[in-house]
Amino acid sequence: MRKVRKAVIPAAGLGTRFLPATKALAKEMLPIVDKPTIQFIVEEARKSGIEDIVIVDGKSKRSIEDHFDSNPELEANLAAKHKDEMLRQVQETTGMNLYFIRQPYPRGLGDAVLTAKAFIGDEPFVVMLGDDMTSSEVPLTKQLIDRYEETGASTLAVMRVPHEETAKYGVINPSEETEPGLYNVTNFVEKPEPADAPSDLAIIGRYLFTPEIFEALENTPVGLGNELQLTDAIDNLNKNQRVFAHEYKGKRYDVGNKFGWIQTNIEYGLKHPETKDPLRQYIKDLGQKLAKEDEKPSKSK
Ligand code: G1P
Repeated sequence: MRKVRKAVIPAAGLGTRFLPATKALAKEMLPIVDKPTIQFIVEEARKSGIEDIVIVDGKSKRSIEDHFDSNPELEANLAAKHKDEMLRQVQETTGMNLYFIRQPYPRGLGDAVLTAKAFIGDEPFVVMLGDDMTSSEVPLTKQLIDRYEETGASTLAVMRVPHEETAKYGVINPSEETEPGLYNVTNFVEKPEPADAPSDLAIIGRYLFTPEIFEALENTPVGLGNELQLTDAIDNLNKNQRVFAHEYKGKRYDVGNKFGWIQTNIEYGLKHPETKDPLRQYIKDLGQKLAKEDEKPSKSK
């Protein structure tokens, strides 16, 4: 069995949910406290044993390339001022084996993954989406690699979501749980309305694929939103080759929408050494203030 060494990080979306911030800035560069979201994803890949990462980017994504490059002027300035910790943080982002491919048109997630075909070649690989940040003792990407080493099959991560939210996700129709947390799947549906959803098990942004996914992508017609949907290609792959779903039980942060991004900043802010104490105090004070405000209208009734 070939080792899983490569990751694809699609980052070519237009980031319309964060306009105007994302007019010139890649949405993957929006920070969680002080670190761009894409750096968390790259760190998860490294902790999972991934050696080579290709980022599929599009227009306005220069900032991602610059972030993972060296910055000699800044480094010299920090070194001269003996700002050692800052220098370490700045240098930490270089020296990763990162490659960049341009997706000329945003034609969907499936198309972004297909763009990486030549880079991946005939190997199993993972796809990691920047909108989902995860936190667990064993990184989710490593959990998928462990499953692959048992089964040799493509496996994607799923998580239970509230039933009314199924239209935000790809959803699986599980047939049997072959071992705890590992499902055989009858079919995969992209963004079903709750009434049509075959389950509450939603695909979250971590996938492990055998290279046969590329053939499946090439033979999949454009789907929802006139885009090539990765979920549709997975459904096709599953007709010829088993695709498993692995249920993730750790913490997930959806940083792809405004509210999720704010929540994630608060949670990480409560852990960050520079912000945790004042933020805790601020939230307590704010909570009391809001509770008082909420009491006022009921009193006047
Ligand atoms: C994409 C996929 C969807 C998946 C989701 C996970 O949707 O198309 O199947 O459930 O990521 O975050 P998007 O969030 O890009 O609309």
